[in-house]
Amino acid sequence: MAVVLFKSQTDDPTLWNTELSRYLVHLDFRVWPAVGDPQEVEYLLIWGELGDLLETLPNVKAILSLGAGVDHLGDLNKIRNNISVIRLVDDDLTRGMSEYVIFNVLRFHRLDQLYREQQSQRIWQEHPPVASSEIRVGIMGLGILGKDAAKKLSSLDYNVLGWSREPKSFDFCSVFHGKEGFNDFLEQTNILICLLPLTAETDGILCAKTFSKLPVNSYLVNAARGQHLINADLLDALSSGQLLGAAIDVFPEEPLSTSHPFWGNTKIMMTPHVASKTNYKTAAKCIARNINNWERGGNLEGVVNSSRGY
Ligand code: NAP
Ligand code: GLV
Repeated sequence: MAVVLFKSQTDDPTLWNTELSRYLVHLDFRVWPAVGDPQEVEYLLIWGELGDLLETLPNVKAILSLGAGVDHLGDLNKIRNNISVIRLVDDDLTRGMSEYVIFNVLRFHRLDQLYREQQSQRIWQEHPPVASSEIRVGIMGLGILGKDAAKKLSSLDYNVLGWSREPKSFDFCSVFHGKEGFNDFLEQTNILICLLPLTAETDGILCAKTFSKLPVNSYLVNAARGQHLINADLLDALSSGQLLGAAIDVFPEEPLSTSHPFWGNTKIMMTPHVASKTNYKTAAKCIARNINNWERGGNLEGVVNSSRGY
């Protein structure tokens, strides 16, 4: 029997229960705040702040995030050491993010913003084509999402660079790492993609100093978290021409207030945190496989290192 407590303001528990029941034969699915006997709860399936929830649930073994990020949970260091924190790893989520990244790289590469402006003014004017191999796409974060996007962009002949915390080596992109590799990475990047987790180290990393290291006329894609970006610095970089355009999917406060200056800026393409949405059908299958595997003594996939924050 797997006793699962579901807590989310944005996900439909009925759909999740139906889907999880297909793969977890002995499932006892409870929806917060109807916890039942709190001693029995083993798994917490959650999107949102943990708050003091764990204090009332003494036997939770694992916290399973309904998304790839775990920053929504709050301070991971406050979680008891015997509880595993698991982020969602799902090929469907990864595919969606790579689509969003490739879509925006193509838009910037093929001067979509400029041609749309020209169209609005009925201007027939060609701009010289640039080969994808001449465009350097720099991906911040080479984890599950960054690696897949890098591989796919490389297969389209883009010159792909990646930046991670630890050194690594791949045949589809050149890799820079750590603070010491950051400037070299930025100096060689024309289209900067942020796919980092939100941690104390990455908070505010998309700032004036970072933009100033990029070649003039670069582009930004932020599909990670709104707190990575200093909004005023983006607006400055766009008005100075340091950046020519940006695709922004995530915001520190969602939904974005209607008075926010991004709405009216034609150089910013905004989407409402939809770069890649959790699909309850594929995600439930991954989460159930993880639980089943663990109950049989196997390893969990997507274990978060709480002290690192991702
Ligand atoms: P992941 O597998 O944990 O990968 C994180 C990557 O970031 C790793 O390569 C890691 O380096 C690197 N990193 C972390 N801290 C760093 C630092 N201080 N300096 C340099 N590199 C650092 O995460 P993921 O599954 O790819 O997801 C990434 C994020 O995407 C999520 O946390 C979430 O916020 C966001 N997301 C957004 C959406 C959306 O719809 N907008 C959807 C899904 C996810 P190492 O490899 O060296 O550890
Ligand atoms: C979405 O933002 C996620 O973390 O999956």
